[in-house]
Amino acid sequence: MPEKYAFIDVLESIKTPKNLKGKESHYISHGSINEIEKVCAGIKQKVLFSEKECREIERKIDEVGDNARRGKYKSHTWDTAPLRNKYFFGEGYTYGSQMARKGPGQEKLYEKGAIDPIPEWINRIVVKRLEDEKLLPKNWITSAVINDYLPGGCIVSHVDPIHIFDRPIVSVSFFSKCALSFGCRFSFKPIRVTDPVVCLPMDRGCATSISGFAADDITHCIRPQDVKSRRAVIILRRTLDTAPRIGDPVSSRVSPRRERRSVDPMYLRNKDDRKRHSREDSEINNKRRRSDTDYIRGGKRHKEQAKDVKIENNKSEKDTSPTHSDDPVVKRSFTRRPKPFFM
Ligand code: SIN
Ligand code: MN
Repeated sequence: MPEKYAFIDVLESIKTPKNLKGKESHYISHGSINEIEKVCAGIKQKVLFSEKECREIERKIDEVGDNARRGKYKSHTWDTAPLRNKYFFGEGYTYGSQMARKGPGQEKLYEKGAIDPIPEWINRIVVKRLEDEKLLPKNWITSAVINDYLPGGCIVSHVDPIHIFDRPIVSVSFFSKCALSFGCRFSFKPIRVTDPVVCLPMDRGCATSISGFAADDITHCIRPQDVKSRRAVIILRRTLDTAPRIGDPVSSRVSPRRERRSVDPMYLRNKDDRKRHSREDSEINNKRRRSDTDYIRGGKRHKEQAKDVKIENNKSEKDTSPTHSDDPVVKRSFTRRPKPFFM
């Protein structure tokens, strides 16, 4: 089957972002040319679904929500929080407060059969198109996750667990335009997000594939300010045969992917970030969020939004210590440079 849809020139669109209305635009990348090139080398994008097809898929996503509320799914299929619903199909894994031992590398797949199978329509409409367009190998994915965000919902910076999921990680966006941001750090009370190294717009109906540096060596997140109206994503991944599973006999074996992994020291440069991250992590676990990767502001949203604006405009936050010599592509940030952390 010949490919019908063109790849977007991601690097070019990041270097020359369009539709920017001065400071109003959120879609600005703050990394150096070198950083942006490294990230973009691992990103592929194609708009694959028409308006009509998006409407059909969005109706199906609504049906998934209805099924969940009617109790039609197994308990680990649906994870809900005030500004986000998450549905796991095929495979699901423990994360956040569900984990007996917390931290990156501790995630485990649920027992076989603990999660509902991938709905037929996801394979027929979405996966088939991704396979035809060479964004996914044939019969490869074992997991489909739907994240359904309300305005202001977000996912904090993380790397999809490298001992659980193979690469590429492919997703398709629905309902509204959003952006995937790379290399941001979050802080809380009030929520704040540092400027992204790369901010990748994702249009409705657009498929995004990440691998290499973009998937393994820099974190990605969805910032709350980029979810302006309801937005959903379907994430298609393959779980590794070596991925640990609840109920497995305890093993000291290190997965091949972990052994292979090489990390750019620039993105793992400071112990302080890891410490800060674990502080944030426990704080959020204790107080405000239900999962490791998703932070939901819930009832405090509006108050915190107002505070956010104040802090974003507060130039006393200005950072005068550049972390490296490359020039940023679009504009130099007045807030602190992002120092990504791992989840
Ligand atoms: C994720 O990485 O978990 C979600 C990404 C997205 O919402 O597009
Ligand atoms: Mn992710």
